[in-house]
Amino acid sequence: MNKSLQKALARELHPTYDVRKSYEWNYRNGPLFKGPYPPPRKIRKRVRLLDFELNSPLGIAAGPLLNSDWIRVYAKLGFDLLSYKTVRTRSRSSNPKPNCVFVETRGPLTDDRLNETLQTKSRPPTRLREISITNSFGVPSRNPSVWQEDVQRAKRYLDKGQVLIVSTLGSAEYYPDTPSFIKDFAQSAAKAREAGADIVELDLSCPNSNAAEGMIYLDPNFSGAISKAAKAELGAVPLFIKLGNFWKREQFESVVKANAPHVNGIIGINTVKMTVLDENMNPAIPGRPQSGVCGAGIKPSGLQFVRWLYETRKMNRYDFVIIGVGGIMTPDDIGEFLSIGIDAVEVATAAMWDPYLAYRYYRSHS
Ligand SMILES: Cc1cc2nc3c(=O)[nH]c(=O)nc-3n(C[C@H](O)[C@H](O)[C@H](O)COP(=O)(O)O)c2cc1C
Repeated sequence: MNKSLQKALARELHPTYDVRKSYEWNYRNGPLFKGPYPPPRKIRKRVRLLDFELNSPLGIAAGPLLNSDWIRVYAKLGFDLLSYKTVRTRSRSSNPKPNCVFVETRGPLTDDRLNETLQTKSRPPTRLREISITNSFGVPSRNPSVWQEDVQRAKRYLDKGQVLIVSTLGSAEYYPDTPSFIKDFAQSAAKAREAGADIVELDLSCPNSNAAEGMIYLDPNFSGAISKAAKAELGAVPLFIKLGNFWKREQFESVVKANAPHVNGIIGINTVKMTVLDENMNPAIPGRPQSGVCGAGIKPSGLQFVRWLYETRKMNRYDFVIIGVGGIMTPDDIGEFLSIGIDAVEVATAAMWDPYLAYRYYRSHS
């Protein structure tokens, strides 16, 4: 290994997204990765995911990859399931900054702690394991003509064994009644297919949105109707849905049952909605008494979700693939999630601070 890569790997944090700046700034100027890139990998065994053969079972969840520039960099860094941040059928600007704020979780947020009020961190973390954030972007989107062209560009950056997921969302603020909202959700999926997405993912679980769509994933009938309508638009292109964490097992089972006939994959979890206050006891994200928490602290919720999903898939002989997300920060975390028997894992927060995670995982597992 050359000296500069060795030196880079010795450093734990390499932020690629500047949390002090706006989403728009990061969209235009990011990612801040300066290199060096790891050497090409020797792929001994590919990983099957539906009809795809991946170089590894590691990807990046919808969020950190704001556009094709981000996808180009992270594909070169060895992440193999790359998710294009959630887009809509109409343009929407981002919520103002701050969009990401560091949160003090004081260890893992176990089930019994999810009702706690959390505080922001007084100092930026220096270790990956200490990074939990709360984020709120409002799911910004370019116009479809812009993001569709950019998705095509992103696809050209992928190597053999890499796959592009495009995450989409319906917009309740423009389509408030249920039938037209469902139609808009399906249209967003259709536009992602048109653009050349290998897989289309529906964000059914964004906890930050102002609109009714925020908690769709908790409603079996509503989420099932959206999945069904989207699947009808996709033909042979696989459909994934992104769910959030559940407090009640029965509710979880009903939602999975309602969606299973329509989907090829289930991803979870999204950020966990909690109360986060700053040092003046104001909401960490101005105007949002509750906001989504992600990163190291939510690992117990992420693990519980995939354990439940694995069990219910087995018991009911469902054939969807399972992608685990939530609190995965290190190669050991990746191994722990995969050992449950799920098909692949994705990271969001870790990728923003450790773009070398894919390479670290490759080195420790090959
Ligand atoms: C900066 C950022 C932006 C995000 N944006 C989206 C999004 O657009 N759509 C989505 O489904 N999830 C979004 N998420 C949630 C992640 O996909 C993921 O589910 C969550 O962060 C938990 O994973 P983590 O603990 O590895 O961060 C975002 C997360 C982060 C950190």
